[in-house]
Amino acid sequence: SPKGEFRNEPFVDFSKHENAHAMKKALERVSALLGHEYELVIGGERVHTKAKIESHNPAKPTQIVGIHQQAGPEHAEQAMEAALKAFGGWQYTPVEERASLLLNAAHIIRERKLEFCAWLTYEVGKNWAEADADVAETIDFLEFYSREALRLAQSTTPIQYPGERNQLIYIPLGVGAVISPWNFPFAIMAGMTAASIVTGNTVLLKPSTDAPTIAARFLDVLEEAGMPQGVVNLLQGGPALGQAIVEHQKTRFIAFTGSKKVGLEIHERAAKNQPGQVWIKRTILELGGKDSIIVSADAELDDAVTGVVASAFGFSGQKCSACSRAIVEEPLYDVFIERIRERVAQLTVGDPAKNPNMGPVVNANAMQKIAGYIEAGKKEGRLIAGGNVVETPEKGYFLEPTVFADVAPDARICQEEIFGPVLAIIQAKDYDDALAIANNTEYGLTGAVYTTSQQKLDHARRSYHVGNLYFNRKCTGAMVGAHPFGGFNMSGTDSKAGGPDYLILFTQAKSVAEKL
Ligand code: SER
Repeated sequence: SPKGEFRNEPFVDFSKHENAHAMKKALERVSALLGHEYELVIGGERVHTKAKIESHNPAKPTQIVGIHQQAGPEHAEQAMEAALKAFGGWQYTPVEERASLLLNAAHIIRERKLEFCAWLTYEVGKNWAEADADVAETIDFLEFYSREALRLAQSTTPIQYPGERNQLIYIPLGVGAVISPWNFPFAIMAGMTAASIVTGNTVLLKPSTDAPTIAARFLDVLEEAGMPQGVVNLLQGGPALGQAIVEHQKTRFIAFTGSKKVGLEIHERAAKNQPGQVWIKRTILELGGKDSIIVSADAELDDAVTGVVASAFGFSGQKCSACSRAIVEEPLYDVFIERIRERVAQLTVGDPAKNPNMGPVVNANAMQKIAGYIEAGKKEGRLIAGGNVVETPEKGYFLEPTVFADVAPDARICQEEIFGPVLAIIQAKDYDDALAIANNTEYGLTGAVYTTSQQKLDHARRSYHVGNLYFNRKCTGAMVGAHPFGGFNMSGTDSKAGGPDYLILFTQAKSVAEKL
C-alpha cells in the first residue's frame, strides 16, 4: 500500500551536468533498441499479425522506432474475450492489491526514468524536459490513483438510517476501451489505463498509431509489476480498430483523449445500442482547446512573455492546453509584440535528442495541416516571427515557431485548433473586451490571465469559462492532484484527470441497506 502522502514526482534538473550526461547515455542505450518488433498482448499472449504498423522518429523519419502488429476485428474479439474473462476475477480482487499493482509500476518507471524519456524523444520528438514531464506525470497518475482507489473504497452513505446498516459501494463497470493520444503518449495512456484497472475494470488499450512503442513498453512494465493476464490487452491499429472496440456490445465504457472530431464520433457510436447490449455505454472524453492568455495592461510584462512563449511553443504547441491566442490590452500591445518577437527569435529548433527548445511536429500530415494554418495566418494577420518549414537533411517534420499579430478574434487561426507552434496575438480594447474574446470559442479547456490587479483576477475567476484557469503563470503543465485537468464545452466531458472525482467515472455506485 502507498507509503505516505502523495507528492508530485520532482522534475529532473538537466542543467546539472550529471543529469544531462545520464540522459545522453539513456538516449544512446535506447538508440540500440530502435527498430525492434513488438507484439499485441491478448490475455497475456503475444500475438503476431500479417499487417504491420511502423513507428518513425519524427525528427528523422527514416529511423524506425518500433514495428508493431496491426490488429484486425478478430483480434478485437479475442481481446474482448480475454478482458471479460479477466474481469471475472479482477473485479473482486481486493482494492489493496489493485493499488499495489499501480505502485509497483510507478516504482519500475521511476527506477528507469531516463530510459522512458529517451523513448519519448525518439517516438514523438519530445525534448528532455518535455519527455521528463510526461514520465513524471505517468508516475504521478499511478501514485495518485492508487491512493484515490483506497479512498473511494472507504466511501459510505452520508446518513445511516436508524435501524439499518447503509453502504455505498463503488463497483467497476466492466471492460473499457482506452483510446489514447500521441502527445502525452505515456502519461495519458497510462493514466486512463490505471484509472480503469485500479477501480476493477479490465481494458482493451488502443494507443495512437503515432506512439505504439511506449504503450508496448508500458505493457511490459505492468506485467513486471504483477498484472494478471487479460487485465490490460494491447491492440495496435487505426480508426477501424477504434470503431470496432467502441461499437462492441460488450464494451462498457470508453476513455478517450484526442481531437474533438474523433471524440464526437466516439460519442455518437457509443450512443448506438448494439444487439445484445444491456447497458448505456459511458464515455469519458478529453478533447481539444483553443486556449488564450490574457495580458492585462497592468501585467508584469516579462512574466507574461515567458508564460505565453512556454505555453505556445512547449512541445511545438502540440498540447490541448497550449496557448494559441494571446489577448493583450491596448496599452501593452505594441511592446508585448516586440518582446515576443525577441524571445521567439531565441528559440532553437532541431533534433530533440540534442535538447533544443523545440523539436519536430509529430508526422507529415500534422506538418502539412499546420503549414496550411500558417498560410491562412499570413492572410489573416501580420507575421511577427517564423512562418516557414525548416528543412533538414533527414527531412524531419520541423516548423518555425510562428507568431501573427493584429488577428481578428473570429479569424480561422483564432477559432480552429491548430495543434502546432502557431500563436495569434489579438488586441483587446480593455479587460472586459479581453475576457469576451477569451470566451468566444466553442472550447473551454485552459486559460490564463496576467495582471497585478486582484479585482481583475476575481472577475476572471467568475467569468472566464474554462476547465483549467491559471493566474500569472502559464496555461500548460497541469500537475496531478493540484490542477485536476479537463475542460468545458467542446473540450470534453469535464472529466478531471488527476482530480478527486476522476475514479468515480470508472465505477457505478451500489447502495446496500441492511436491516439490523
Ligand atoms: N495536462 C497537460 C497540460 O496541462 C495537457 O494534456 O499541459
